Amino acid sequence: MYFVFKNFSITKMLDFKINQQTCTRCGLCVADCPARIISLSEDGYPIITLEKEGSCYKCQHCLAICPTGAVSILGLDPAASSFLAGGYPDSDKLETLIKGRRSVRRYKDENLDPALFQKLLDVAWHAPTGVNSRQVRFTVLDSKDKVAQLREEVMAGLVRLIKENALPKGMEFFANFVRIWEEHQVDIIFRSAPHLLITSTPMSLPSPTPDCLIALSYFELFAQANGVGTLWNGLAKWAINDLLPQTRRLLDIPDDHLIGYAMVFGKPDVHYVRTVQHAPALIHRAL
Ligand SMILES: Cc1cc2nc3c(=O)[nH]c(=O)nc-3n(C[C@H](O)[C@H](O)[C@H](O)COP(=O)(O)O)c2cc1C
Repeated sequence: MYFVFKNFSITKMLDFKINQQTCTRCGLCVADCPARIISLSEDGYPIITLEKEGSCYKCQHCLAICPTGAVSILGLDPAASSFLAGGYPDSDKLETLIKGRRSVRRYKDENLDPALFQKLLDVAWHAPTGVNSRQVRFTVLDSKDKVAQLREEVMAGLVRLIKENALPKGMEFFANFVRIWEEHQVDIIFRSAPHLLITSTPMSLPSPTPDCLIALSYFELFAQANGVGTLWNGLAKWAINDLLPQTRRLLDIPDDHLIGYAMVFGKPDVHYVRTVQHAPALIHRAL
């Protein structure tokens, strides 16, 4: 069932709307819908019947594929999307970015410009998620003072664990990081980066870990393309997630969330001039 108003046919929940003046009835939106819930009505215009609305992935492929911008869904105006033609980086540059990205462990002692900070997160938010669940939560420390506060909590928590001889087996090496911090003010855990990003999702999602890791991968590449250094931070993740649950609470990460990973970032105080040379890829051609 759908409703026709003048030049628009509208379905209810999804607000799936076809501009009948510009729709050419080409059927591309029907063919590309991953949930296969779009069909052509008797007059040839795409519709989503009410009983199928609940199966929509909300992926917006119908809006993205329409050559004339005739499809609107979820109340979105196709004119507000960016055109793709000619907009992708050329493949050589992308290859250099992927091969030239390095783990940055030395940072300038300054915060990122807030507009850039926001943009990095907004773009990473476009990373794909399983079944388009789109529930990756970005917990961020947006200033070096906040990272310093977290570091203080983590170091104090580690000191307590060391005193109580309570560092779990296999994690005793954290004692070294505390010693190096106390003796030399060298921060092996957060690398004195000015910012931290933790991705988490509800554990109940179909693919919580991949969703979190993919978001961070997108974030990292876009950050480095913008001259921002990044470091995947297993040490911070272990400290926050496994050793010191109180820091997890301090960061207000919901109890029902799985922490995917942590990444520190900021303006690099190091400059790499060439790619590294990895051994050939391990490729197993099966069957
Ligand atoms: C999942 C993951 C966790 C990592 N955790 C840390 C970490 O806690 N501290 C650190 O200094 N480097 C960490 N790294 C960085 C790796 O050591 C680094 O990727 C590797 O040495 C290769 O260097 P490159 O990233 O510059 O190519 C991590 C990397 C990954 C992918």
